[in-house]
Amino acid sequence: MSTKNRILELLEQNRGESISGEHLAGILGISRNAVWKAVKELQKDGYNIYAVTNKGYCLCGENDIVSVPGIKPFLSEKAKPYADKIHIYKSVESTNKTAKEMAVAGAEHGTVIIADCQTMGRGRYCRKFFSPSGGLYMSIVLRPEVLHFENPTFVTAFAAVSVCEAIESISKKTPQIKWVNDIFIDGKKVCGILTEAVTDLESGALDWIVLGIGINVYTRTEDFPDALQATATSIYPEERMSSVRNKLSAQIINKILGFETSPSKTDIFEKYKKRLVMLGKEITVIQNQLEYKATAVDVDSFGRLIVKNENDERITLSFGEIRI
Ligand code: BTN
Repeated sequence: MSTKNRILELLEQNRGESISGEHLAGILGISRNAVWKAVKELQKDGYNIYAVTNKGYCLCGENDIVSVPGIKPFLSEKAKPYADKIHIYKSVESTNKTAKEMAVAGAEHGTVIIADCQTMGRGRYCRKFFSPSGGLYMSIVLRPEVLHFENPTFVTAFAAVSVCEAIESISKKTPQIKWVNDIFIDGKKVCGILTEAVTDLESGALDWIVLGIGINVYTRTEDFPDALQATATSIYPEERMSSVRNKLSAQIINKILGFETSPSKTDIFEKYKKRLVMLGKEITVIQNQLEYKATAVDVDSFGRLIVKNENDERITLSFGEIRI
């Protein structure tokens, strides 16, 4: 960990209290000048750190800057070992791209990439994912042999349920799921999930899965592109909160990497189904460039959507898109 992050960790642990430069220097085995330099850098990053005469440095006030020291206090015991595998960037093209590069280079299960903004955020079907600063863009490298999940569809369902529960734990919102992997709040999309997997061509076995999660946290309605304004929303479009993105990141990591016992498939799909927005509703199915009206009836244990078309025929959808 860099000196800057080590100082930040100590200041986060003592938020609102002063610690002397001498004490910080002693704990870290560095000079007081090195402490001062690191504090200056943190202030430049936007942290409110006050130097109080004869008392030392104090991290005060509210901010929502994502950092490993900011996430760590909210990690569960099971998830704490993953703190060393979290990589945070101000801006990347796409956290999924970075995570894939790391996976190819042998990154371990539980490597997490988080960015404040993405310049080429990607969604399903090679669409762009609007990723301005103020969101939470996260990708997690998963090794199937550690996860014990045999198919990526299940990972997507597990991730969708986990993100809903994580959002619920840090806000008063009640997120719902639109099949396959969109999270909605009050009828508008707040999060998209993109699961990418690589299989070994010879054995057909999954080598790794990159789970990409993009959450609109603070984007105001008027800041979304025109085409998204009627359909996209954020968790907090009106106000900035303190440490929300650190808590949200930690909650997602706790659920996806730090579970106590391997989550059962039945449990996950029950939870997934309970949150589905469109069961019993009329929807439009878009598949292979064809569109038809149908009623969403159920989701099966493979995460496939079962619909009834206008001729009352049951159709099982394993891919495609729907419009509500
Ligand atoms: C969708 O809505 O179609 C899926 C969007 C997935 C966006 C996330 S943001 C983090 C990760 N990096 C990307 O480039 N995409 C995913």
